[in-house]
Order: sequence, then C-alpha cells, then structure tokens
Amino acid sequence: MGFNSEGLGLPKGTDELLRSLIHERTGIYFDNGKAELLTDKLSPLVIERGFSSFLDYYYLLKYDEAAQGEWLSVFDALSVPETFFWREMDQVRALVETIVPRWVGERGAEPLKIWSAACATGEEPLTIAMALEEAGWFERARIEIQASDGSPAVVERARRGLYRGRAFRNLPAPLRERYFTREGDGPTARWRVSPELHARVGWGVANLMDEGEVAARAAAHVIFCRNVFIYFSESAVARVARSFAKFIRPPGYLFVGTSESLLRLTTDFSLEEMGDAFVYVKRGSAG
Ligand SMILES: C[S@@+](CC[C@H](N)C(=O)[O-])C[C@H]1O[C@@H](n2cnc3c(N)ncnc32)[C@H](O)[C@@H]1O
Repeated sequence: MGFNSEGLGLPKGTDELLRSLIHERTGIYFDNGKAELLTDKLSPLVIERGFSSFLDYYYLLKYDEAAQGEWLSVFDALSVPETFFWREMDQVRALVETIVPRWVGERGAEPLKIWSAACATGEEPLTIAMALEEAGWFERARIEIQASDGSPAVVERARRGLYRGRAFRNLPAPLRERYFTREGDGPTARWRVSPELHARVGWGVANLMDEGEVAARAAAHVIFCRNVFIYFSESAVARVARSFAKFIRPPGYLFVGTSESLLRLTTDFSLEEMGDAFVYVKRGSAG
C-alpha cells in the first residue's frame, strides 16, 4: 500500500477506482497524470470523516446510504469557480440582440426561460441579467433566469451576492456603479449586488450528470453551460449534451465556452453563427 502526501493510505489501484467513480458521478475527468491532484483535493474530506485510507472513503461514496450528502462535499472540494462579470460577451450580446428580439416578435406573451447551468459564484447569470436590464428587456418581455451549480458552497456565495475586485476586471465601471454598492475599504472591500438585480435570478444546486436534476431546468429556451466541459471527459460531455437535447425547448439555444466544442460529440444540435458568437441550436419538437 502507498501513502499520499497527507499520510493517508492509498492501496494500489485505489486512485483509479476513485477517479472512475468521480468521473461517473460528476463528469470531471482526472487522467493518470492528475491522480495526485485528485487525492490532494479529497484528503481533507477523508481526514474529516475519520478515515485513514482512501479506500474506506471510496467505499463510503460508492455504497453508503449517507453518501448523497457526501457527494455535495466532493463537489465543493473539486469545484474550480473561476469566473468574472462580463465574460465572453459576444454570446450574451447574441442573446440580447438576436434571441430575445426574435422571441418577443414571435412568442412575446410566453416567458423566455434561460438557464445558467454551471453558474459558480453567480457572475454569469448576473451578467446576463445586467445586459438584459441595460437593453430594457425586462420591461418589454417576460424573462426567467435560473442558475445552478453542482457545488453548494459556490451557490451559497452566489446567493450572498458579495464580490471582490477581481470579479469586476472586465465589467465597464459605470455598470459596477449602477448595480453594486461598495462595502468596506482597501483590500478587504467587497461589492454587494443590488437586490433588484439579484432577485432576477433563481438560485439552486444541480449536478449536470444527474438527469433528474437537469430535467426541469433544461426545459428552457436558452442554456449557458460555459467553461465546465473543459473539466469533463468527452463521454461525459456527450451525455450532458444528450440530456440538454432531450429537455431543451426548440428552437433551443445552447452556449458553451469559446474554447469548448460539441462538434464531434453530438448531432442533436447544429452550430450556427449569431452576430460575433456561435451557438448550438436544437430545432424540431422537444423530447
Ligand atoms: C470555471 S466555472 C464556470 C463558471 C461560469 N459558467 C463561467 O463561464 O464563467 C466551472 C463550474 O462548474 C461547476 N461544475 C463542475 N462539475 C459540475 C457538474 N457535474 N454539475 C454542475 N456543475 C459542475 C463547478 O462547481 C464550477 O463552479
């Protein structure tokens, strides 16, 4: 038996079992070279549970009734909530300047449902809400924004709505003035999002790999699922794309990160150019 850097037991083959279980349940893929990164991230949980070996923790996750709650802690441990306001704006502009006007012209009375599917600490859905507010769409259309993430800890931070300077590195200063209030001074200063803007978004926890948790949220017209597939295996991306395709309301629009591609992984969506952005579109009837 080997040991990891915390002195925890790592019986031969355990890291492979863990990596495969984590992949199956979260989509996140740690290849051979990243086994140590995974054990480093999980070791605080193993110690907290009073185990001295990763194999015991593996058994807990795989077989124990109590594992449902433990998986939420695993999501918290593995989450990389790197995000900021006004990120990859060509896609948000495509929403505001093309999808919403088209919607209002064709089906104006119905609510347009938007889902930010890996929202991290909330900058993405709040960016969408700001851009829609700036364009005056909330006065002219019924728009519902849902946001979720697999990690309860980051969703809790999104619910709090308090942000540090780094989150604003791309946001035009006048928008920060309009939608945020500074709390404190100097390096510890935080900015609180306005309650009106914050209330435009409904927050929740959902695992993209769990079709039961995806179903209701993915029954939307627009899905933003950006900068999460970079952590997934191709088979996991294909699985999530299949469940999006199953539930999205046609014509459904799916935005992924600019460095991510679904082209080899799904035939359910066609890639279309919209302004300066690309969007995956599902046409035809739902289901
Ligand atoms: C880099 S952030 C992306 C934030 C935002 N979408 C953006 O583009 O700025 C990736 C997020 O994906 C979440 N995530 C990873 N696996 C997930 C899963 N299976 N289900 C839901 N969220 C997941 C992580 O918790 C993390 O908050």
